[in-house]
Amino acid sequence: MNSLHFAPRRNWTNDPNGLVFHKGRYHLYFQHNPIGIDHRNMSWGHASSPDLVHWEEHPVAIEFDEAEEIFSGSIVVDAENTSGLGTVADPALIAIYTSEARDRDHEAQSLAFSLDDGMTWTKYAGNPVLDRSSAHFRDPKVIRWEGREESYWVMLAVEAEDRQVLFYRSDDLLTWTHLSSFGPQGAVGGVWECPDLFPLRVEGTDETHWVLLVSLNPGGIAGGSGTQYFVGDFDGRVFTPHERFPEVLPDDEAGMRSLDWLDYGRDCYAGVSFAGLPEDRRTLIAWMSNWDYARVFPVDPERPARGRFTLPRRLSLVAGDARPRLRQTPVAPAVREVARFEDLEVSTPVSIPTPVGQRVELAVALRDTAGFSIRLEGDEDRALEISYDVAAQQLSCDRRGSSAGFPEGFASVQRMPVAADSELSLTLWLDESSVEIYAEGGARVLTDLVGVLRAPTMRVASGSGSGSGAMIRRLIISEVAE
Ligand code: FRU
Repeated sequence: MNSLHFAPRRNWTNDPNGLVFHKGRYHLYFQHNPIGIDHRNMSWGHASSPDLVHWEEHPVAIEFDEAEEIFSGSIVVDAENTSGLGTVADPALIAIYTSEARDRDHEAQSLAFSLDDGMTWTKYAGNPVLDRSSAHFRDPKVIRWEGREESYWVMLAVEAEDRQVLFYRSDDLLTWTHLSSFGPQGAVGGVWECPDLFPLRVEGTDETHWVLLVSLNPGGIAGGSGTQYFVGDFDGRVFTPHERFPEVLPDDEAGMRSLDWLDYGRDCYAGVSFAGLPEDRRTLIAWMSNWDYARVFPVDPERPARGRFTLPRRLSLVAGDARPRLRQTPVAPAVREVARFEDLEVSTPVSIPTPVGQRVELAVALRDTAGFSIRLEGDEDRALEISYDVAAQQLSCDRRGSSAGFPEGFASVQRMPVAADSELSLTLWLDESSVEIYAEGGARVLTDLVGVLRAPTMRVASGSGSGSGAMIRRLIISEVAE
């Protein structure tokens, strides 16, 4: 398998939309231009999967028209038929999306419903259902609030330029009243987009906290598009973070590092989670690109396509030094072990041929070394280097060696704080054109697109320093089995 990641066959793609698990299938809708390679004519494309690994692409679900483009949003199953658009026996799926007016600067929230389990959609005749006469009010995420006394729908949507998440309530999905607003707070170097809110348990405890995800562009930790998160409480009306952050701009490096980031790479944006799954299976998918260069990304003229998605990731919380942190565990294809090394001294670099779609599990003893690096070298002199600096407790992902032919700004080095005492463990998922790096058991993640890496050889080397070299406790290379 050359790619671990689902990508629509043709045309332009950005954010995942309306993620929902329904009747045994995972549905992934997405921002899509059905007729072109550019970010225009936004509609919802559609794919579904029985297992989050094998995807089938379906016809476009909700299409643009002369009046509006269909911007990002979410889907709920209206099990009690609160909207009256389905029946209790055969509940409607309701998509809540942003109507992006074509003739003026105006964004409002609208509905479409499906009576055939998500395959075909009808726009609601009373659209829009929530309009505050704004040009930047978008990306509705609707969740069901199950309080002790009452249950109702809650919508989160951003007032993008104000760096605010607005909360609304509804009993029928058709009429909405304002509950509260959150922000600006934390990273504010760009517009806020694509919010999500869900409860998560701290692993190994009975404690549950609410996590608010906020994507922002630009102003992310790696430059351009990025996603911050806030851990706090939600009482059905107001989200209150456990810690109040000051507003931080990208040039304040220490401030940026003090915030909580979903991902430290360049290419993980607009990630949101599935509706319809139990809380202990909360699963996120993100767009694997960055607005810094997505619009000018090179395409294969034979098969013009732009945009794909990260591996789906199960989410949990883990206790951290100061506060709970998100842990991400990828849902990935089955693999077959192809090489295993144990207790390997790397005083001189070691070279290992590797498959294209692969998982690399690595554990390195750090006692006698300043660090180590893994360099993946493909054909045409392309290379990707992942290295760890013990003194700085920092992992770097350098894709400059694989950036020839890519847009300006693509050649870059991403850095992620990774704490390690005597041993560092990493899991990498690599395919021909991307890497996902999971460190600290998934509590630190870095996702980057890379230039094409065909037939990669892996070179493992010790960092410079006085020690005798890094000791590889374990290096297991597995290829994707299908
Ligand atoms: C995020 C975003 C959303 C918007 C959509 C338009 O990447 O800008 O805010 O709804 O993309 O395609």
